[in-house]
Amino acid sequence: MMSLATWFLLTAEFVSAVFGAERVAEKQQQVWPVPYKRFDYRPKPDPFCQPLYTFCPTGYSDGHIPLMKDNDSIEVFRLQAPVWEFKYGDLLGHFKIMHDAIGFRSSLTGENYTAEWYELFQLGNCTFPHVRPDVAAPFWCNQGAACFFQGIDDQHWEKNGSLTAVTIITGSMFNQMAKWMKEDNETGIYYETWTVQAHLDTNSTVWFESYDCSKFVLRTYQKLAELGAIFDKKIQTNYTRIFLYSGEPVFLGNETSIFGPQGSATIAAEIRDFYYSFRPHQSLKEILLSLLKVYDEVCLEKTFYLFYNFEYWYLPMKSPFIKFTYEEIPLPNT
Ligand SMILES: *[C@@H]1O[C@H](CO)[C@@H](O)[C@H](O)[C@H]1NC(C)=O
Ligand SMILES: *[C@@H]1O[C@H](CO)[C@@H](O)[C@H](O)[C@H]1NC(C)=O
Ligand SMILES: *[C@@H]1O[C@H](CO)[C@@H](O)[C@H](O)[C@H]1NC(C)=O
Ligand SMILES: *[C@@H]1O[C@H](CO)[C@@H](O)[C@H](O)[C@H]1NC(C)=O
Ligand SMILES: *[C@@H]1O[C@H](CO)[C@@H](O)[C@H](O)[C@H]1NC(C)=O
Ligand SMILES: *[C@@H]1O[C@H](CO)[C@@H](O)[C@H](O)[C@H]1NC(C)=O
Ligand SMILES: *[C@@H]1O[C@H](CO)[C@@H](O)[C@H](O)[C@H]1NC(C)=O
Ligand SMILES: *[C@@H]1O[C@H](CO)[C@@H](O)[C@H](O)[C@H]1NC(C)=O
Repeated sequence: MMSLATWFLLTAEFVSAVFGAERVAEKQQQVWPVPYKRFDYRPKPDPFCQPLYTFCPTGYSDGHIPLMKDNDSIEVFRLQAPVWEFKYGDLLGHFKIMHDAIGFRSSLTGENYTAEWYELFQLGNCTFPHVRPDVAAPFWCNQGAACFFQGIDDQHWEKNGSLTAVTIITGSMFNQMAKWMKEDNETGIYYETWTVQAHLDTNSTVWFESYDCSKFVLRTYQKLAELGAIFDKKIQTNYTRIFLYSGEPVFLGNETSIFGPQGSATIAAEIRDFYYSFRPHQSLKEILLSLLKVYDEVCLEKTFYLFYNFEYWYLPMKSPFIKFTYEEIPLPNT
């Protein structure tokens, strides 16, 4: 919990940060939502980050996507199922937290495939960093990536989710999509849980977009539409989104500028404290408790420190603070 004195100190820091000459120039150019940063390549994760489950265990070992015959006809499926972590227990039972993926079935070979995008080190590690005694800055294991593998596990998707054909494409379109998917995978490297916007209205300003499994599916549909795919618009496609609500975010800096020798000790300590209560845990129960704790902290303190593009932002939080939704995002028009 933050004392009143700390709050005033912090506020003073923010005011000088926001109204400093450099910042004014920066602010005028600020584009909302802040564009998700693309990288030239995907770095090797730090060995500190260890997955609880192997990423993409049944994927092709060299990460390739098989080439289809140009004249093949390939059915595309929308795949959705509850996230296993949230399937059991009553704590989050009433939230509809779904995982999205895409299925493909070749009519020439009869083979089918699944493409999905998810966390390398589980969701908790993408949402909350590790606060390590020996490292000043919070330590993030937040990479996410695409996994392409042979097979569709019908039962898994059909049980409490969906497996629905949405369009049919040619093999040639599939191959172009595959090329795009590999580039997308190389340049979009980290997972972002939160969508941050100004208020509840659907046309509210969006400060930050999430970058998760459903965004991968939406990007792929969009790519297929650009390649000429015609979607069955009668199908309703809802997705899980996790929102934070805040006033205009304030840019704080990157790891070096905050936690380095030239950094602000006050802000550095605040960010560390903030994340200390939410550090990732092994057990499902602890992750759920952390999420509830976020809710408390955020509502009482009206403060959130968002990590986006490997930079920190201060969010002046507003009611209703946090919300899970399961709303429609229609299939693309051609
Ligand atoms: C998160 O990262 C830690 C440290 O690398 C690791 O031990 C753990 O298995 C990861 N997963 C979860 C769910 O915490
Ligand atoms: C995406 O990148 C990850 C991490 O490098 C890799 O394991 C995976 O095979 C890649 N997926 C695709 C579809 O290229
Ligand atoms: C697809 O093209 C191959 C030659 O590349 C041809 O042998 C085959 O008959 C064609 N199949 C269809 C369904 O048009
Ligand atoms: C995908 O292939 C597997 C194995 O052949 C089969 O059991 C499953 O029904 C197929 N699913 C779809 C949607 O084609
Ligand atoms: C699927 O949903 C039904 C009804 O809501 C529930 O009783 C059942 O336990 C769920 N099954 C799984 C595997 O989640
Ligand atoms: C969106 O904005 C317009 C104009 O500002 C307003 O008239 C409309 O009511 C808003 N719609 C929603 C759903 O908030
Ligand atoms: C961090 O921010 C400082 C100051 O704005 C900048 O000079 C530096 O290049 C940034 N470092 C990275 C890794 O982006
Ligand atoms: C899907 O989204 C629509 C519109 O956003 C909503 O009216 C509907 O209730 C949602 N469906 C479910 C099952 O939540």
